[in-house]
Amino acid sequence: MKLITVSTSIEIYDSIDELPAEVIKLMNTAVEAREKAYAPYSKFQVGAAILLDNNEVIPGSNQENASYPSGLCAERTAIYYAGAKYPKAIIKIMAISATSLNHAVTSPIPPCGACRQAIAEYEVKQNEPIEIYFMGESGEVAKSNSLKDLLPFAFDKSNL
Ligand code: THU
Repeated sequence: MKLITVSTSIEIYDSIDELPAEVIKLMNTAVEAREKAYAPYSKFQVGAAILLDNNEVIPGSNQENASYPSGLCAERTAIYYAGAKYPKAIIKIMAISATSLNHAVTSPIPPCGACRQAIAEYEVKQNEPIEIYFMGESGEVAKSNSLKDLLPFAFDKSNL
């Protein structure tokens, strides 16, 4: 037997004001996207914004469905659109913001497991890390320097 220990780190910032101007702008785009979420069932509104190396910004929000599993998270809505519109662009940064119509969301909301798998695909495809910043509607902001820090030991094309 051998033991493999996987360790990751996430940076935590006290508030959005501590982030670089470029990231604050991207987070503001995620907030705008969040306000366009279609989330009549969960009332949990998520927005994502992706900065590409061609300086394009791709927003996305969660899109729910009466058949619940048919809905899609904000992160995948954004990243699939980025991949569809700019297949050759490098994804540099993703910013994520979440709120709820039912309660205040003041701690960072991480991307779900399915979204991590989807983001991982693009990180492997481009062979460059994607920085991911995530937060609630206020409060601390978390930063992952690479998707790998959110999904260690991931399944990817090398496993096929
Ligand atoms: N949601 C996202 O958009 N991103 C995540 O990473 C977590 C969950 C959405 C899906 C659903 O519309 C609502 O939040 C509640 O789960």
